[in-house]
Amino acid sequence: MRLTLPVTNHENDGMKDDEWICSKTDTEGVITYVNDVFIRIAGYSATELLGQPHNIVRHPDMPCIAFAWCWDRLQTGLEWRGQVKNRCKNGDTYWVDVTMTLQRDGNGRAIGYFAVRRKMTREKIDEMEALYKQLADAEGTAEQRARLSRREIFEMYRKSPLYVLAHQTEGDRRHGPGNESIGRRTDDRPSPDGRANG
Ligand SMILES: Cc1cc2nc3c(=O)[nH]c(=O)nc-3n(C[C@H](O)[C@H](O)[C@H](O)COP(=O)(O)O)c2cc1C
Repeated sequence: MRLTLPVTNHENDGMKDDEWICSKTDTEGVITYVNDVFIRIAGYSATELLGQPHNIVRHPDMPCIAFAWCWDRLQTGLEWRGQVKNRCKNGDTYWVDVTMTLQRDGNGRAIGYFAVRRKMTREKIDEMEALYKQLADAEGTAEQRARLSRREIFEMYRKSPLYVLAHQTEGDRRHGPGNESIGRRTDDRPSPDGRANG
C-alpha cells in the first residue's frame, strides 16, 4: 500500500452533480489519461499524474481488500463498480462512485482500463465511511496494513464476503473473452520486495 500522507480532515466536495472524473491506465494501473475535472478536484497537474501509478490518489483510510476486489474483477474482464475515498494532493479527501472497465484494441487485446466517477450523496458517503472503517480496522494498524504483501491482501479478500460478491454479481458485463488474467495480479505475484505497491 502506498503511504500517501499527509491527510487532512477536510472534504473537497467541489465536484458538481453533472460532472465526471475520468482517467485511463495501462494494464498495470499506470495513468495514461486524466480529464480536467480530475485535475481540478485532485489538485495535481496533468504532468504530475500521467505516468504515475493510480494509487497516487489512494487514501490510507481505504481498506486494502476493496482494491483486491476491484483488481479481481478487472483482471477477468469484468466491470467493477464501487465507492472510493480518494486523497487530493493537499491531503483533503473526495469521495466518488466509480465504474472501471477493461479496454481492448480492435484485435481484442487488452490495452488498459477506463474509470468514470460520479459525485456521491452524503448518505452513501456516511454509509461507506463506516463500512470501510470496519474493514480497514480488521486489516490492522496503519503500519501493519502498509506492510501487507499483495498475497496477504488477496488471502484476506478471499475470506471476505466481497469475494463471493465479486463472482456472483448479476448482470455482469464481461468485456471480451474471460478467464485470462490481465495486467496486475493480486493473487500470486507480490511485488519484488514482498510489499504491495502501485
Ligand atoms: C482505471 C483505474 C482507476 C483507478 N482509480 C483509482 C482511484 O481513483 N483511487 C484509488 O485509490 N485507486 C484507484 N485505482 C486502483 C489503484 O491502481 C490501486 O490499486 C489502489 O490505489 C490501491 O493501491 P495500493 O496497491 O498501493 O494499495 C484505479 C485503478 C484503475 C485500473
